[in-house]
Amino acid sequence: MSVEMLEELEVVEMGEGFVGRKYHEAVMVEEVMDYLRPSEGKRIVDCTVGGGGHAKGLLRGGAEVLGIDRDGDAIEEAERVLREWGSRVRLVRENFRRLEYVVKAAGWEYVDGVLMDLGVSLHQLEAAERGFSYQRNGPLDMRMDCRECLSAEDVINSVFFVSMEKSLELDG
Ligand SMILES: C[S@@+](CC[C@H](N)C(=O)[O-])C[C@H]1O[C@@H](n2cnc3c(N)ncnc32)[C@H](O)[C@@H]1O
Repeated sequence: MSVEMLEELEVVEMGEGFVGRKYHEAVMVEEVMDYLRPSEGKRIVDCTVGGGGHAKGLLRGGAEVLGIDRDGDAIEEAERVLREWGSRVRLVRENFRRLEYVVKAAGWEYVDGVLMDLGVSLHQLEAAERGFSYQRNGPLDMRMDCRECLSAEDVINSVFFVSMEKSLELDG
């Protein structure tokens, strides 16, 4: 891995995670394993590592896993549940749209499989302060990566402002 690449990527140290709360329930784990067939020496990228449920299955099967998630909470939880696999797992806090870059930065020349379990995690839905919950009041945030500058509230307010301006312009 080159130094420039490493400097830009946020490769994470193993932390404590969200002990005592269910972070997420991985779905269709058996089907995913049947399809990806993890085994020793296989390199699999989990682009949405979340609470590490699928990654655990891949590691149990013997594969090496590069886990990506843009949510810092997910990375923290994945560190906790996956640390027993040591150097067979690496976690990177990134947007999977930078998949190619992340894979190269990890020093992998090829991959045997890529998993994307798209959507939100139970944790994101249940943490009211994240703004994804249908059941709990919270700020209109909805950022998957809290380092991003615009919350849903910012977007709505600015779009509303622009469209009000436009319609006043058009309608006189
Ligand atoms: C349904 S959960 C994945 C659960 C995971 N498979 C497990 O076993 O726990 C979806 C995850 O994808 C992440 N995510 C969504 N869009 C992303 C993106 N563009 N780049 C990286 N991660 C993303 C979310 O933060 C969330 O943790």
